[in-house]
Amino acid sequence: MRCLVTGAAGFVGSHLAERLVQLGHDVVGVDGFNPYYDPAIKRRHMAALRERPGFQLVEADLAETDLEPLVDGVEWVFHLAGQPGVRGSWGTQFAEYLRHNVYATQRVLEALRAHPLHRLIYASSSSIYGDALLPMREEARPQPVSPYGVTKLAGEHLVDVYRKSYGLPSVVLRFFTVYGPRQRPDMAFHRFIRAIADGKPVHLYGDGRQMRDFTYVDDVVEACLRAAACACVGEVINVGGGASVTVNEVLALLGELIGQPVRVEQQAGPRGDAPHTSAATDRAETLLDWRPRVALPEGLRRQAEWQLGAAALHGRSTAVSAVRSRHDGSRLLIYGHDTYGLGHLRRNLTIAAGLARECPDLSILLLTGSPAVQHFTLPPNVDYVKLPAVIKVADEDYHARTLHMLPTEIVHMRTALLRETVANFAPDVVLVDHAPIGMKGELLPALQELRQTRPEARVALGLRDIIDEPQRVRATWAERGIYHALEHYYDAILVYGVPEVLDVVAAYHLPPRVAARTRYCGYLPRARSSVARAAARAALCAPDERLVLVTAGGGGDGYSLLHTYLAGLNSPEAPERVASVIVTGPFMPVAERAALEAQAIGHERARLMEFTNDLLDLMQAADLVVCMGGYNTLCEVLSVGARAVVVPRAEPRREQLLRATAFEQLGLVSMVHPDALAPATLARRVAEALGEGEGGPRAGARAALAAFTASGALGGLDATAHAIAELLEQAIPASARVS
Ligand code: NAD
Ligand code: UGA
Repeated sequence: MRCLVTGAAGFVGSHLAERLVQLGHDVVGVDGFNPYYDPAIKRRHMAALRERPGFQLVEADLAETDLEPLVDGVEWVFHLAGQPGVRGSWGTQFAEYLRHNVYATQRVLEALRAHPLHRLIYASSSSIYGDALLPMREEARPQPVSPYGVTKLAGEHLVDVYRKSYGLPSVVLRFFTVYGPRQRPDMAFHRFIRAIADGKPVHLYGDGRQMRDFTYVDDVVEACLRAAACACVGEVINVGGGASVTVNEVLALLGELIGQPVRVEQQAGPRGDAPHTSAATDRAETLLDWRPRVALPEGLRRQAEWQLGAAALHGRSTAVSAVRSRHDGSRLLIYGHDTYGLGHLRRNLTIAAGLARECPDLSILLLTGSPAVQHFTLPPNVDYVKLPAVIKVADEDYHARTLHMLPTEIVHMRTALLRETVANFAPDVVLVDHAPIGMKGELLPALQELRQTRPEARVALGLRDIIDEPQRVRATWAERGIYHALEHYYDAILVYGVPEVLDVVAAYHLPPRVAARTRYCGYLPRARSSVARAAARAALCAPDERLVLVTAGGGGDGYSLLHTYLAGLNSPEAPERVASVIVTGPFMPVAERAALEAQAIGHERARLMEFTNDLLDLMQAADLVVCMGGYNTLCEVLSVGARAVVVPRAEPRREQLLRATAFEQLGLVSMVHPDALAPATLARRVAEALGEGEGGPRAGARAALAAFTASGALGGLDATAHAIAELLEQAIPASARVS
């Protein structure tokens, strides 16, 4: 939707605008930066939002500016601009209240009346009730006790007049004392928290027994969104926090939370303050299916953390809230569907290990379907939730790997596990590997729910450099709704590659808003192993032998390469004095493995291995690596600077072929096209690649690799860690984090 948020730089408006942008709407925010409180504070509210694609800030006074260009083409209008504050609305100040709450509102309505509009939401106030009976019901007769309340009520009436006369599709929401991060500095909680933390007395108006139905700002935002989409035009709806408490009770909670005694300086109750407020919320429940979600202790903690920093509350939050606090560090969830091979898991583990080293406070949870996850050593702050394994039998056709379950059953089960895990782990950042909606869309419900319940959480997609033939990727993405998902659920697209190998933005036709969130991180290097090369070689080959490592990744379709390599050892082209270590991979079918074992018997200097949990030691020890063109394998080859002969897979996807071709063009590897794979050909290429000498193939490859590395193309781990740290920062502002 194209949205206009008036008062976008204010307390409630800035939260609403942020949420709309997160949900993928186009938002124009307008604000006059009125000096009611320091406009610099309002500018800070806008700092992050201004950078976001999809948001535009217009600095203008609604009481003066030409509104036509602002309302042109707009579908949802949230009219929040206004002069707030109950107690200051007497005397000469009233002119400001009239101007911003009545006149500006009338001008907005006048500008909108000629435009087709989906919805206008007007931010009214509990102050219109004044002395009404509790709980305050929408049908009660309004009897405001402050001039402010009168102007807000006038605004309601104006909205209604324009609805009746011009058909403006409006909904009036009556907010009850809103609080949370960014609360206005004149409001009670803001002042209380500051005073208590500074050891100063709290100014209490009256005896503190006045009750307010305090409402957390995210709940107010949620009500606005629902009112924009509901069938409730012409309705007036209370938005109240759900439990009225006295100001004295709030002070007690805050004292406990901040860990300081509360000194109270009582003052006469100012004119204009309603004695009590309490919202009847049955209308909101029925019409909007809305209920407040954030209870006062948790909401208070969040506001106090925002004002004081989490460190100031350390160790105290649990006393007032059972809800998880941020004191336990940040949380990252990494999802990989892992339905084929080891590549995705390897990549995610590499990232997890890199991040775990950098940020010891970060809890990392892997969500993986890999049947091999238990073979890997995990860093101390990494754990995993294992999804039941599936195996890909054809495009978009997945079967349970070991369980006797129908494909639909297993997809359901994985979907439910994903939802539960995301909901309970409450990640600050989710990093999704490769598949934006997961296997058969299994991730989508979890992402949708996360957007609703934790809009501050950030979601990133990690894409390896190449997925498939660009044309095919585009067609598949269009058909499966991937472009939509990228626009709506992803805050960042991290490409683990470089544009010289593939310009992902151009090749996959990323829409401008997604392109703007895309960043090339570079290839993900693996840390070189500490095992001394000489010792590893001594165990595997004689001093005068060259060592060739032959690997086919997970091994699912590696038989042909390994079989051809072994057969090539018999050909006249084969290099001399070579020892070969051949790793079949854990997913090679048993019969194929047995056939290779039988074949290997004839080769005294060839040794077969099923699995090694770190190929890196072997690569480092080898003079040459013969491998397929998988992303991780080639990252490992580059990381150890190994010379490689690559025989990529070309079906069912072109991914490996495209990568190996690009790498060969950059001089980094030598490639044998799978169609040309024959024992003698492979043996000849191996012999060539082993050739020594100045200016020979090894020297050329070394120079190419040095240039590639110098360009930062292997800096993927640092760049990804950086990008995720930034997302964590956005999800939990530094002010709310333990140092
Ligand atoms: P706020 O002062 O933080 O935000 C209001 C914003 O509107 C300010 O940034 C201000 O500069 C802008 N503004 C005011 N007049 C303008 C004009 N003529 N042109 C352009 N911009 C203008 O206040 P808030 O607490 O976020 O309140 C937002 C709205 O919600 C107000 O209409 C208020 O009456 C209503 N409301 C707030 C609460 C609450 O507890 N905060 C409760 C009930 C209703
Ligand atoms: C708030 C907003 O400021 C209004 O803009 C909004 O329209 C109104 O809610 C609403 O719900 O309609 P208010 O309820 O006065 O107004 O909110 P606070 O400023 O947070 O005050 C809450 C209570 O604390 C009041 O009873 C007030 O008298 C008391 N208070 C406030 C103090 O005792 N000491 C202070 O320093 C400040």
